[in-house]
Amino acid sequence: MGVVIAANVFYSDGTIERIEEQERLIALFRHNNKDACIALEYAYDPALLAESALSGEGMWRYSSLLPLAPGEKHYPLSVGNTPLIASARLREYMGLPALWLKDETRSPTGSNKDRATALVLEYALRTGVQTVSCASTGNVAVSLAVGAAAAGLKAVIFVPAHVADAKLEIMLLTGATVFKVLEGYKAAVELSRAAARAFGWYDRNTGYHPFTLEAKKTVALEIWEQLGCHVPDAVLIPVGDGVTLSAIAKGFRELKLCGVITKIPRLIGVQAAGCQPLKLAWEMQIPVRPVEVKTIADGIAVALPINAAMALHDVRASGGGFISVTDEEILQAVRVLITKGGILAEPAAAAAFAGAEIALQSGYIQRDETIVALVTGTGLKTLPLLSPLRSNNVFQVHAQIAEVQKALTAV
Ligand SMILES: Cc1ncc(COP(=O)(O)O)c(C=O)c1O
Repeated sequence: MGVVIAANVFYSDGTIERIEEQERLIALFRHNNKDACIALEYAYDPALLAESALSGEGMWRYSSLLPLAPGEKHYPLSVGNTPLIASARLREYMGLPALWLKDETRSPTGSNKDRATALVLEYALRTGVQTVSCASTGNVAVSLAVGAAAAGLKAVIFVPAHVADAKLEIMLLTGATVFKVLEGYKAAVELSRAAARAFGWYDRNTGYHPFTLEAKKTVALEIWEQLGCHVPDAVLIPVGDGVTLSAIAKGFRELKLCGVITKIPRLIGVQAAGCQPLKLAWEMQIPVRPVEVKTIADGIAVALPINAAMALHDVRASGGGFISVTDEEILQAVRVLITKGGILAEPAAAAAFAGAEIALQSGYIQRDETIVALVTGTGLKTLPLLSPLRSNNVFQVHAQIAEVQKALTAV
């Protein structure tokens, strides 16, 4: 178990408060009343990452850097240890000989959100929580609904009214209670936080619950181990609220603080051109402002990111930057990922890979560098959005070879 010695609270105006008193730290694990995202700090030491300290299945391998007391795990789903894929066809197509894809679509509900759900619910199970809640653009909600059901907990979920049908279907299949909030995602977050306080639910909201960052940082720790205890030169990350990006940053930073690496990779945050508040703030050097949202990438369609201050700080510290990709570029990336890499990604998840070409042109990455693109979620939950990519090679035939032959002439 990692010994948490402090919490750094990032307020949206960029100020940071440091909390060291144990009772105040534990109170943050129960409910974060602050309108701010929180990064925990441990007593860093190389021993935390020694072979003898790394044991346990999947994400739990890194328990020495997670805020849980040792002991039997109660959360029932297997999370973490997703593959880092080297696809020869993709590398050749992209002209990037050392491109890797971190395939988070292999998680229990098909997204990296399952890591955060696992850690929050493990704590919930150990502390007698009965009802958990969150707001979500879709994937966190699916993850919490399925995870809570499997753990025997009740889930109450707040989503924007236009949430993807398949995501809603899965939530409802689990028996979760779902509120579709007409005013959109930001209002859903505020309502869910107020409701958690009013009704005594355990609030899993991304960024606000410090464990969400803790759990998602294990992606960086896995990348390091999967590359033979080396880090890549750069990592491309899709950005909505910016929690995934800051989690990756935290993972690499902790490797450095533990003394097992000497430099952290450049982090390149990729936003949709139709929703790029962080990229605009980065480029124009202005505070983050809410934007109009118009993109098919629903997972990263966040008008005003919750974790903006920390994400901007982390990208700057890494020497990386923010870029954006159009919906056409995202769809093209989905096509290339499925036809050359064998990975079915949802639009938000394909955004990072879509950003590779732009990152090259902008000088954020070089062709011969080791680059990792995060593929954060499966396309199985967003198939209607992918319909523009379908071929027309489907034929209804009688069971006769002549009909097959005739159809083949049209292909
Ligand atoms: C598939 C997918 N990718 C990326 C993200 C972005 O993560 P974050 O909001 O932490 O920036 C999300 C968020 O829901 C998502 O669902």
